[in-house]
Amino acid sequence: MGYSRILGTGSYLPSQVLTNAQLAERVETSDEWIVTRTGIRARHIADEQHKTSDLALRAAEAAIASAGIDKDEIDLIIVATTTPDMIFPSTACILQEKLGLPGVPAFDVQAVCAGFIYALSTANAYIKSGMAKKALVVGAEIMSRVLDWDDRRTCVLFGDGAGAVVLGASDEPGILHAKLAADGRYQGLLNTPAQISGGKIQGMPYLHMDGPAVFKFAVKSLSEIAMSTLAEAGVEKSAVDWLVPHQANLRIIESTAKHLGLSMDKVIVTLPEQGNTSAASIPLALDVAVRDGRIQRGQTVLLEGIGGGFAWGAALLIF
Ligand code: UT7
Repeated sequence: MGYSRILGTGSYLPSQVLTNAQLAERVETSDEWIVTRTGIRARHIADEQHKTSDLALRAAEAAIASAGIDKDEIDLIIVATTTPDMIFPSTACILQEKLGLPGVPAFDVQAVCAGFIYALSTANAYIKSGMAKKALVVGAEIMSRVLDWDDRRTCVLFGDGAGAVVLGASDEPGILHAKLAADGRYQGLLNTPAQISGGKIQGMPYLHMDGPAVFKFAVKSLSEIAMSTLAEAGVEKSAVDWLVPHQANLRIIESTAKHLGLSMDKVIVTLPEQGNTSAASIPLALDVAVRDGRIQRGQTVLLEGIGGGFAWGAALLIF
């Protein structure tokens, strides 16, 4: 069995930027509190007329161009999102239509902030088993639509954006190992519990989070899954060139890096300018670092993330 390799990356951020200072005019917060507790300075907000699939399309087109392939070579589309365009059909099907790829299998993966790791690992399995040759894997979110803009505990944390990769079958090493985990007992700590019934929204349609409890669990579980992913792949932590973590809180990122013995100059951090873009944060950070030349072909890269569910995971790859 061969490998799947990342052939190209792409990303897209809406042009509208919302700074901490602007937020402080709206809710009782301050730039100082947000920067000290999270590391976030600004986030991008999607225009009202745009949907998640529009952001996904821009990131997907950039990834296809960077892979240097014809879009018709794509034979699988997976979109990780927790803010889909609609209840159904999937955002992946809507993206498929926008890309003009009728017939290509397309589906969404819902694992919130771990969504991209889940989607990447699924696409990897399809490619390794021979069920697909070139997969488009996208993480795209408009988190701003599920935030209560009067709740300072959550509205300062999130942003909108999309990131994508094209994954292709290869004889050369690419994804070495991916490991997923979930524990639904923690569903109440981080959720948007609303549902639609009888034509009405039932329950709270805003993101709710017990920040300190999530923080504690994230620090522990991300370090554990990063270490076990390396161990199962037979790769020493000293061999990791880059850590591309989910961008939720700088203190969580620093703690995971410390456990791995990585200095922060080996960690890709986009959080200050982007906030937490949920399933989009890892492919967004990956694309930024590939395009600015930090991540080079042949280097060893570790991706990791956690979100509501809880669901979490890590993927180790040679770029
Ligand atoms: O992406 C999914 C995974 N998500 C995460 O990993 C997020 C994990 N959690 C966190 O990042 C942190 O817990 C937060 C950034 C959400 C909160 O930071 P914290 O240091 O855990 O603060 P806290 O929730 O314990 O709140 C401390 C104080 C409280 O005031 P009192 O009760 O001590 O008087 C809050 O009311 O800070 C207050 N506070 C704020 N103050 C100013 C909470 N939010 C704000 C705010 N501005 N935006």
